[in-house]
Amino acid sequence: GFQVELTRSGKTLAVPQGATILDTLLGAGVDVSYSCTEGVCGTCETRVISGVPDHRDLVLTDQEKESNEIMMICCSGSKSARLVLEL
Ligand code: FES
Repeated sequence: GFQVELTRSGKTLAVPQGATILDTLLGAGVDVSYSCTEGVCGTCETRVISGVPDHRDLVLTDQEKESNEIMMICCSGSKSARLVLEL
């Protein structure tokens, strides 16, 4: 698991092993946009303030993935212990 810190809502949540960031946010009552939940539509695109995402979507280009500036929270995880997201 890892932690996600949300800069707008001021929450910090633990994402358990095997759970998605999206599931964790929805479970905590955070209002997020999503649609496919499979990494193909791009609706859940979120700005990454710090941390290193583990990209598993099919939307972002390799260059975007390497930039560590945006991620799809429905399917991607984290390579770092903490991710700070603009949410
Ligand atoms: Fe479609 Fe995340 S909800 S890419």
